[in-house]
Amino acid sequence: MASSFATFKRLKDKGIAALKQGDYVAAKPYLIQAAECMIEISEENKDRDQRAEQETYARELIDLAKDCDRKAKRGAGKGGRRGDRARDDDESGADASDWIVKEKPDIRFDDIAGLDDVKEEIYLKMIYPFRHPEMAKRYGIDVGGGMLLFGPPGTGKTMIAKAIACELDATMFVITPAQLMSKWVGEAEQNVRKLFEAAKEEQKSVIFIDEIESLVPKRRSSQSTVMQRVVPQILQELEGFDRKVGRALMFLGATNEPWSLDSAIMRPGRFDSRVYVPLPDAEARFRLFEIYFGDRPLDDEIDFSVLVEHTKGYSGADIKAICARSATRPFLETVSGAEPRNINMADVLAVIEEIVPSVSRKDCEKYDQWALNES
Ligand SMILES: Nc1ncnc2c1ncn2[C@@H]1O[C@H](COP(=O)(O)OP(=O)(O)OP(=O)(O)O)[C@@H](O)[C@H]1O
Ligand SMILES: [Mg+2]
Repeated sequence: MASSFATFKRLKDKGIAALKQGDYVAAKPYLIQAAECMIEISEENKDRDQRAEQETYARELIDLAKDCDRKAKRGAGKGGRRGDRARDDDESGADASDWIVKEKPDIRFDDIAGLDDVKEEIYLKMIYPFRHPEMAKRYGIDVGGGMLLFGPPGTGKTMIAKAIACELDATMFVITPAQLMSKWVGEAEQNVRKLFEAAKEEQKSVIFIDEIESLVPKRRSSQSTVMQRVVPQILQELEGFDRKVGRALMFLGATNEPWSLDSAIMRPGRFDSRVYVPLPDAEARFRLFEIYFGDRPLDDEIDFSVLVEHTKGYSGADIKAICARSATRPFLETVSGAEPRNINMADVLAVIEEIVPSVSRKDCEKYDQWALNES
């Protein structure tokens, strides 16, 4: 028999209520049943977009249920100490420190190959204003704000976000929309608040949301109403930040589907700047080979400029993979008893033949076009 929304809601509410009380053992079966119910509902849904969202929702409930096992074990391990924490977290049903991951990245801009224009723009908009706040004030340059990094996969967007945090000596908060939206289903606004509270506790913070398009898809169904509340809230939190000298709060988003973003978030004043992170040009590919061959033993005949010619359309991540895989041939020969030898041109060219660029030419044109029209 087909599941109804009423049954789904009852099960989900019971599961979430148990979660909030810290009763993970009781919560788990409700969440699983609610997920099953949602899957049945989705199977009957004729609208493809809605069906996809319902499936995502079901998956998120399953993730929550899985999380219950981990929490139940940890709760048992902590014994009597659970009390305080549980009380702190009553309001949202979750301890923010469970899902808010803080890190201090140590990637410098120099570690990133190419992208000189991108780096320059970031220096101008994000780094210099922090390093020279008095001058920024004098010239009326805004400090902080939001930046959207967009481009094909594997081009260094995440790396850039980390490098920004590193260059500013800021604490980085890496969050995925799934974490914001699903951890405590229906409590997304509270999650955003907690995230910003945690970020504001630090002197300098960079909040980085990857795959931001899944937080702000184009309006299409009732399911995205939570998302439609969350995005303005994030922007409001940003605006409300008290920009004292020496303090910083930045919001970076990354996406490889910029065309899926809701146009509301793209209006001026929201993401103050949008930066296209394209596939590496010839010079950048040369540098990528240098970086990722690193100290590996290379034959003298290896000519990076030839490799650069053969890797047009490959991403940074692809070139990293080419370097790693090229090393496996001589390595395997050596461990099978052959004399150790250097990586040679034939090894690398064979690997380039094997590895298909992860971004198709058609997709690549789509990014270029979008960047031209929209940013
Ligand atoms: N310009 C670059 N310089 C140095 N390394 C790079 C560069 N671009 C990509 N890489 C390497 O490729 C890998 C993927 O990079 P990264 O995760 O930053 O890509 P991304 O653009 O965030 O991809 P996605 O859109 O899939 O999240 C990293 O491990 C990084 O080492
Ligand atoms: Mg990334």
